[in-house]
Amino acid sequence: MKLKKRNCFILVIIIIVLVIGGLSLFKRKEIVKIEEDAPTLKAFKESSYYQEKYQEAYKEITFRDNPKFLEITNQLLDKNYQAQEINQIFTYLSDRNIENLLTIDYVSLENYYEIKNLDVLKIKEYEEYQKEHNVSLADAVTRVNIHLNEEFYTNIEEVDNPDSLTVLVNKFHSLPSDYEPTDLVNVGQYSYQMREEAALELEKLMAYGSTQNVYLIPFSTYRSYDYQEGLYDKYLTIDPLDVVDTYSARAGHSEHQTGLAVDLRSSVLNDNVTDEDYEWLLNNSYLYGFIVRYPKGKSDITGYMEEPWHLRYIGVEHATKVHELDITYDEYYDLYLEKH
Ligand code: DAL
Ligand code: ZN
Repeated sequence: MKLKKRNCFILVIIIIVLVIGGLSLFKRKEIVKIEEDAPTLKAFKESSYYQEKYQEAYKEITFRDNPKFLEITNQLLDKNYQAQEINQIFTYLSDRNIENLLTIDYVSLENYYEIKNLDVLKIKEYEEYQKEHNVSLADAVTRVNIHLNEEFYTNIEEVDNPDSLTVLVNKFHSLPSDYEPTDLVNVGQYSYQMREEAALELEKLMAYGSTQNVYLIPFSTYRSYDYQEGLYDKYLTIDPLDVVDTYSARAGHSEHQTGLAVDLRSSVLNDNVTDEDYEWLLNNSYLYGFIVRYPKGKSDITGYMEEPWHLRYIGVEHATKVHELDITYDEYYDLYLEKH
């Protein structure tokens, strides 16, 4: 009986020791946890950047393993960005955008975080464009990025990749005047020339069309800079400049100079492509890497009236995406190909 009592006593002691031990372990864990919860505060305290007035904000800001994190965070706090805004800035914005953000006054980025290819230096322009044109903010961003808030043929940039199958040529991007593709070949039996890959795929597209009652042949393909210049000047003798600019590219700005563009006509009618041909091209040309480059209803973006006959070769992968997204190549280039 005595032994039993003693055992009970020992057991109680053991339980007490275990409970106290467990509690203290738990407490220690909690202390560690508090420290883990505020690594930004800790980092600031261990640095020369610590500012007492931002102590509460530091606790809410997620620590980033970025050599300039402390410096940038203080600068953003100085500009009145709140802790949660700073977390979003570091999550969504590129290093370049963050750097630029530090050069301008506070702007609310609330509606921009998820928008692709945002340039924080253009926020005022995006907002003005959106107001004026009644488009989504995402569309306003893309359109301003591709200069649609500027006059056509201003701020022209010469492309540095004229040989690329995806080169963007439009009223803001020109080809060097001496650019000539080096791999031009005839398209099938026709005397019209295109770059080899585009020529071969065009032959396949035309053959596929003829199995579906769509009979198309090329009537204009590669054009040299000089040829385009002559063509444009000839049109100027017929129409005023602002009208010519809606249907003919100025020299250096025509996709035909890339050797990747083709104008098609209907071989059965010996005339322009029909509405049915156009529909067919819209829905099938991507299978062979082509897009209808100046579709109906997109003149404000492409800068040209609709040209149902003008195809541009960009390769199957990109043509498929342009087709699926149903956007112009100018927009696609900014969203998916341009290095931002
Ligand atoms: N007609 C198209 C826009 C060109 O001249 O290239
Ligand atoms: Zn054309």
